[in-house]
Amino acid sequence: MELLGVRSFFLARNEESRGTMQTAHAAGVRALEWTGTHLRLLDQARLPHEVRYLELQDWREVVEAVRALSVRGAPALGVAGAYAVVLAARELAGLGIGPFREGLSAAADGIARARPTAVNLAWGVSRALRAADEARTPAEAVAALVAEAAAILDEDVAANRAIGAHGAALVPTGATLLTHCNTGSLATAGHGTALGIVRTAWAEGRLREVIATETRPLLQGARLTAWELSQDGIPVTVVVDSAAGALLRGGCIEMVVVGADRIAANGDVANKIGTYSLAVLARANGVPFYVAAPTTTVDLETQTGDGIPIEERPGEEVEAPLGTRATPPGVAVLNPAFDVTPAEYVTAIVTEAGIARPPYRESLAGMVAHRG
Ligand code: MRU
Repeated sequence: MELLGVRSFFLARNEESRGTMQTAHAAGVRALEWTGTHLRLLDQARLPHEVRYLELQDWREVVEAVRALSVRGAPALGVAGAYAVVLAARELAGLGIGPFREGLSAAADGIARARPTAVNLAWGVSRALRAADEARTPAEAVAALVAEAAAILDEDVAANRAIGAHGAALVPTGATLLTHCNTGSLATAGHGTALGIVRTAWAEGRLREVIATETRPLLQGARLTAWELSQDGIPVTVVVDSAAGALLRGGCIEMVVVGADRIAANGDVANKIGTYSLAVLARANGVPFYVAAPTTTVDLETQTGDGIPIEERPGEEVEAPLGTRATPPGVAVLNPAFDVTPAEYVTAIVTEAGIARPPYRESLAGMVAHRG
C-alpha cells in the first residue's frame, strides 16, 4: 500500500463530502431513556441492522442487557445502573423500610457487578443508593432514586458537551482523527466523550474526517461509531484494527482520541482492547494520543492500572464473531475486553472540568475535586 496515496485519497474525497455534510449536527441518538414507568434501551447488540428498543421493567433484565452489551460504554452504564436501582426499589416498595433496604442493597451489588472494568457502573449504583439514605419510607426512597438517576443522566450530557468544547480546541483545522470503539451518544447519555469532541469539532468546521477502527471482536467501531456518525452526516471511514499502524506511519492521522472505562489516579487508562497498541503506535509516529472521559470515569482509589479489573468475555465472541465460526473447534481463545494504556503514552486527558496533563496524579485530582 502506498501511504501517501492513502492520504491524498482521503483529502480528495473529503473535499467532495464537506459541502453537503457540514451542516448536520445533533447530540445524536438516545441510548437510554426513563419513560416514567420503565427503562427504554436502544438495543446496541442489534445495530446497525436493526433499530429495536428494549422496554425493561425489572432490574434483572437491565443486568442481562448490560452483560449482552445491549447497553454499553462507561457513562451509559452509569446511567443504566442507577435506573436499575430504581427498578429494584420499585419492586421492593411493598416491604417495611428495613427489609426494603436489605433487598435494595443486595440488588445493587448484583447490578454493580454486571461488568467489572467500567467504574461508572458501580459509581452510578452507589450514587443512586446514597440519594435514598435519608428516606423514611420505601416510597420516599423510590422518589429520591428517580430524581437522582435523572440527575446522573442530565449531568452526563452536560459533561459530554463540556468535554466536546475543551477537546475541540485541541483539533487542528482540517484534521483527520482516529478513534477506537464507540464513545458517542450510544455510549453515554448524549453527545459522547471522544465522539463529543468529534461532534463539536465538526460543528466548528475544524474536522476533516474520522477514521474508526473496526474494534474486534464485537465491532463497536464498524457497527456503532460508523452508524452514529453517519446519522449526523460526519464523514467516517472504517478500517480494520490492524490498519491503524500503517495509517499513523503514513501521515494520514493528526490525532488519536479514545474514551476510557476507568482511569487510575496515576493516569493509566483502561479502555477497549486494542487501545494500548494504538497509543504505542501513536507515540512511535509522533501523533498525539488523547483520552476523553468525564471525571466519573476517574477512580482515585485505584492507584495504577495494575489495580483495574479487566473483564474477560466469553470465548465464543472470538471463536464465532457475529455468529460465523472462525476458529477450528477445540482451539483455545482469549478474550480480554479491555487493556491498560500506561499514562506515559497519554498526551492529555480531556474531562468536563478541563484538560488534564502530566503529571496526572495532581491534574486528575484537581479535576475530580472540581466535581465536588
Ligand atoms: O465493551 P464496551 O463496548 O462497553 O467498551 C466501551 C469502551 O471501551 C469505551 O471506549 C468506553 O466505555 C468509553 S464510552 C464513552
